[in-house]
Amino acid sequence: MAQNPTYQAPKGTVDLTGDSARAWEYLNHTAAQVFSRYGYELICTPIFEATEVFARGIGAATDVVNKEMYSFKDKKGRSLTLRPENTAGVVRAAIQGNLAGEAGLAKLYYAGPMFRYERPQKGRQRQFYQIGAEALGPASPEADAEMILMLWNYFCTLGLPVVNMELLVNSMGCPQCRPAYREHLADYLRDHTKELCPECQTRADTNPLRAFDCKNPQCQTVLATAPKLSDALCDDCASHQRQVTALLEAAGVTYTPDPTLVRGLDYYTRTVFEVQIKDGLGAQNALGGGGRYDGLFEQLGGKPTPGIGFALGFERVALALDAANQYLFSAGGPRVCYVAAADAALRGRAFGLAQTIRTSTQKWAALCDLQNKSLKAQFKAADRAGAAVVVIVGADEFEAGQVRMRNMQTHAEELIAFDGVARWLDDHPELQGASNQLSVSSYTS
Ligand code: HAM
Repeated sequence: MAQNPTYQAPKGTVDLTGDSARAWEYLNHTAAQVFSRYGYELICTPIFEATEVFARGIGAATDVVNKEMYSFKDKKGRSLTLRPENTAGVVRAAIQGNLAGEAGLAKLYYAGPMFRYERPQKGRQRQFYQIGAEALGPASPEADAEMILMLWNYFCTLGLPVVNMELLVNSMGCPQCRPAYREHLADYLRDHTKELCPECQTRADTNPLRAFDCKNPQCQTVLATAPKLSDALCDDCASHQRQVTALLEAAGVTYTPDPTLVRGLDYYTRTVFEVQIKDGLGAQNALGGGGRYDGLFEQLGGKPTPGIGFALGFERVALALDAANQYLFSAGGPRVCYVAAADAALRGRAFGLAQTIRTSTQKWAALCDLQNKSLKAQFKAADRAGAAVVVIVGADEFEAGQVRMRNMQTHAEELIAFDGVARWLDDHPELQGASNQLSVSSYTS
């Protein structure tokens, strides 16, 4: 029944319902399957943290911290922030709980909502959903390559066409080589200040590397001939980068070296990467990305511990799957049977039988009427729910200790014992209901 809503979801947020909720479930389910093959375990951290965790972790000069955080004071006057991303939160949790432990390694993944006050558009929301992974402890090029390959494997497993994805890889250097380069780039930007947009003029002093992300065509022209960090890496960073890309090549995954890939968060050191979709998403074409953050633990008060990770955006991945006409398959939930009461006097029996089915077999879901519907209307409801079987509880049959099983595909009927229904269902795994394909529709406000 259509209603005139008094309240709307806040701008930049959407309700995940129906197919979009199932798509979120499917991405989660697939993440659990794929990531566990690499040894990852789920971590759930709070949705809000002390503001300092993000301000120190992500960097005060970033857009995320400067302009996009949802911060508020609690009743004791402490500043808290809804997480704009989860790497800083996971590292905070790892320091607090010593999660890397004796082994010096923790492989963790997470899924949930993030919050950034951005201008909403297709593939960009204020509350959006991320799935991410972090490897805490390893510093090796193998750890970087494994992380990139896991993200790639995940996208391929979901069904995104390889030909429409591009993997970009770059190195952000380290505290040995980046500061000198940063100054060099800042000088270059200052020399071209008249050709730059006002924001990039400021960036020359605050965060010169972010100028590479500016969409202004004039800035892009200036940046095209700017000095690149890839030419200024120290020997260790250059060697690390060569080993990472050699491992990707050995794994047969094609990548594009992109010396202008700088990413929007300040914690990155050495390897950064992004998977972009070539067609169908417009400006918001980054499905996911990440990189190494070897200084973040210390930044948040922990012992020096290297780390690397990524996060992907659910809305963009779902849109990309939709654009590729790639239907999402449900996570393989149970088949559905519908227990229908032929008349009102038998409603309690049907209700009880549905509960018996649910507790006696794992493979079948059992639905029954909760709205006093006629038998005809119950059949309609069974159809709508994609039921493979309707169990009809009728007066004469019940009298004889029996029920009627109706196959919804062939319409064939069979009389069986009332207390043998769950066994009968388990003996008929071949019965199919309506298609369990999902189509993905609208994800953005
Ligand atoms: P990020 O690049 O800021 O990285 O976000 C990762 C992904 O989240 C993006 O590629 C995009 O798909 C999605 N995303 C970001 N903002 C929005 C938005 N406003 N609406 C919809 N989707 C969005 C991080 O968050 C890092 N924590 C990744 C990481 C993990 N690096 C190391 N470990």
